[in-house]
Amino acid sequence: MTHQTTIGRTVGFLALALITAPAHAEATEPDDALLEEGRQIFVELAEPQCAVCHALSDADAVGEIGPNLDDLQPSAQQVHAAVTGGVGVMPAYDGLLTQEQIDALAVYVAQVTGADTSLED
Ligand code: HEC
Repeated sequence: MTHQTTIGRTVGFLALALITAPAHAEATEPDDALLEEGRQIFVELAEPQCAVCHALSDADAVGEIGPNLDDLQPSAQQVHAAVTGGVGVMPAYDGLLTQEQIDALAVYVAQVTGADTSLED
C-alpha cells in the first residue's frame, strides 16, 4: 500500500511538471526561430513592409507614418489585431500573411519591445 502511494505521488508530480513546464517556457521565452521568422516578416516579407511606416530599433526600422513601436510597446495580442484587421491607414494583412506568420510577427514585436508576448486571452 505504502509503495503504491509513493508511485502515485511520483506520477502525479511528473504529470504536473509536464503540464506546467512547457507552458511557462512559451509564455516567457519565445523560441528563437519564431522570433527570427517574425523579424524577417517585419523587415521583408510583409507587403507593404511594416518598416516603411514604423520605427522598431531591433529591426533597424525608422518609418514615421505609424506610431514608434519601441515607444508604444504593443502586446502580442494588440499587434495581432492591428495586423489582421488594419487600423486607420494601416492596411489589413489578413489573406496576405498566414495566421502562423501573423502569430510570429506579433510575438516578435512584443518580445523586442518588452511587452506581453502571450497570444492567449
Ligand atoms: C502604410 C503604413 C503602415 C504600414 C505598412 C503598417 N502600419 Fe502599423 N500603423 C500605421 C498607422 C498610421 C497606425 C496608427 C493607426 C491609428 O491609430 O489610427 C498603425 C498602428 C499600428 C499598431 C498599433 C495598433 C494599436 O493597437 O494601436 C501596431 C502594433 C502596428 N501598427 C504594427 C504594424 C505591423 C507589425 C506592420 C507590418 C505587418 C504594420 N504595422 C504595417 C501604419 C502602418
